[in-house]
Amino acid sequence: PLSFILDTDPGIDDAAAIAAALFAPELKLQLITTVAGNVSVEKTTRNALQLLHFWQADVPVAQGAATPLLRPLRDAAYVHGESGMEGYDFVDHQRQPLAKPAFIAIRDALMSAPEPLTLVAIGPLTNIALLLTHYPECKFNIRRLVIMGGSAGRGNFTPNAEFNIAIDPEAAERVFQSGIEIVMCGLDVTNQALLTPEYLATLPEVNQTGKMLYSLFSHYRSGSMGSGLRMHDLCAIAWLVRPALFTLKPCFVTVETQGTWTAGTTVVDIEGRLGQPANAQVALDLDVDGFRQWVAEVIALAP
Ligand code: BDR
Ligand code: CA
Repeated sequence: PLSFILDTDPGIDDAAAIAAALFAPELKLQLITTVAGNVSVEKTTRNALQLLHFWQADVPVAQGAATPLLRPLRDAAYVHGESGMEGYDFVDHQRQPLAKPAFIAIRDALMSAPEPLTLVAIGPLTNIALLLTHYPECKFNIRRLVIMGGSAGRGNFTPNAEFNIAIDPEAAERVFQSGIEIVMCGLDVTNQALLTPEYLATLPEVNQTGKMLYSLFSHYRSGSMGSGLRMHDLCAIAWLVRPALFTLKPCFVTVETQGTWTAGTTVVDIEGRLGQPANAQVALDLDVDGFRQWVAEVIALAP
């Protein structure tokens, strides 16, 4: 299986992505690192530990950055609830995060792995930027970075910016210009990754995981499942195991950090107008039926 590290801010769609990360047979999740984003990093860490306890999964967790590199945190509690994973009563447990911060835990995992590891980031890119700043030599131990973030078109947080990039544009820009191989699953594909109300309604019958996710989904975006739900973060995991579902284009991507109204916008140079070499493989289209089928398969494999 493919060994990888997941950086996340759970987060209701993050919870679904973590389920797939644990139960897709093609994958081996080595480490979870948490970051401030959807809610504070204390909450995202608590949520990650609760999920691992729910699944009795033995994956270490390291807590990461509490704030973006230069800006105050703006959260998305309006989407995921005050706790970040509103809607399900998780049982108490004694699990604790590692004693070291996320970027050091990632470095240690990269440096001790027998071959370069894949990183997947489904929250703001603060931890990854800290890693690349403090330990630039780690680049050579990263196979690639797959992100859920950005957009070649419109935004979902500001008119032009997607949430994960908008929260920490400086971190995102540092990551995009770092020279590591990047696969960007942005809103261009994740807005297509819609689970239908018909499928969502079957979840409680599938298994305990289905029940739990259904309860969380009932609180996602204040609970309207009627028009389906977008599984943004699941797309990054889907790409790892079903890359053929995605249409990618190599593009130069840069992040606007200065704009009065546009900070956090990913400028994706699809037509090559800026004459810069490509620094990311940008996902522009998704096989929606194939995606839905894969999601149903992998959730059915969970307990
Ligand atoms: C991203 O923003 C967060 O609220 C989601 O978890 C996802 O990572 C979508 O823009
Ligand atoms: Ca997320």
